[in-house]
Amino acid sequence: MFYRVAQSILLLVGALLAGSAVAANTGDVKTGKLVYERYCLSCHGAQGNGQGEAAEYMSIKPRDYRQGTYKWRSTPSGSLPLDSDLEHTLLNGLYGTYMPTWRALDERSRRDVIAYIKTFSPRFGTEKPQDPIIIPPDPGYSVASVARGDAVYKKYNCAQCHGAGGQGDGPSAHELKDDWGNGLVPYDLTKGHVKCGDKSTDIYRVFMSGLAGTPMPTFADSLSPVDAWDLVHFIQSLSPLYAKNMASGETGGAR
Ligand code: HEC
Ligand code: HEC
Repeated sequence: MFYRVAQSILLLVGALLAGSAVAANTGDVKTGKLVYERYCLSCHGAQGNGQGEAAEYMSIKPRDYRQGTYKWRSTPSGSLPLDSDLEHTLLNGLYGTYMPTWRALDERSRRDVIAYIKTFSPRFGTEKPQDPIIIPPDPGYSVASVARGDAVYKKYNCAQCHGAGGQGDGPSAHELKDDWGNGLVPYDLTKGHVKCGDKSTDIYRVFMSGLAGTPMPTFADSLSPVDAWDLVHFIQSLSPLYAKNMASGETGGAR
């Protein structure tokens, strides 16, 4: 009898521990709401619709969370993002927009606020994110790879939107809109720093997963990994600001 009770207590403790481990990974919605109200609401809005009071003054609008549409993902086109993708955005911020970095928040608060913003879209309750795309190791920046990347850029007609020199002035550039009806001009790639982070893997995933909610398509079905890496190096070559990444021997792989 005593043995049985002890055993069930042990089982119970085990279950509680396992439960809290899961909770620790997924974040707490209630605490996340407090973090959100304090730090995010002024831009992203109380309803999560991207219409906080500060949004009015911004040309690049804060994300409307209700559709579950996220631009920067490691997952394929059409998929929800992973929590780690949202964490990546919070850590880096979005360069050139009003979305700041949230490194100052502790990890726990970031996890909680991520759990909370997911509640704005019913998709997170019914769909699972797909497996992340596979990013093979960066073969390394070289002049030869840049030249091949230049040819890939021409072959896939990136210039239609991005312009021949990558300055965001292609023939279609000024007709583009995002899914929320806001005008959207492709970034000037010669200024350096794409929005979502400067690692070569950050650039690679842009054209393999596409930027959901924008006209920036996925090329995963047509672009081989070899061509995609050449394209990354070509994009890095457009801006002098990437020199530090090239020299640091950034080799890709998992973030
Ligand atoms: C000062 C305004 C501002 C504040 C405050 C702000 N954001 Fe943003 N956020 C933006 C803007 C603007 C964008 C859209 C940028 C774009 O699409 O280029 C954005 C986009 C995002 C995205 C979408 C990324 C993607 O892949 O599509 C997430 C997630 C996000 N913010 C989370 C947060 C969280 C969480 C907080 C609070 C901790 C927060 N933001 C606070 C302005 C803000
Ligand atoms: C139909 C128009 C269109 C085409 C074609 C297109 N892009 Fe884009 N691209 C965009 C737009 C619009 C953005 C900006 C999205 C944003 O900032 O929300 C963008 C953004 C990007 C970014 C920056 C992402 C970031 O995080 O800031 C890169 C890199 C990029 N495109 C590369 C390419 C490459 C390489 C090709 C060709 C293989 C290509 N694009 C083809 C429209 C296009």
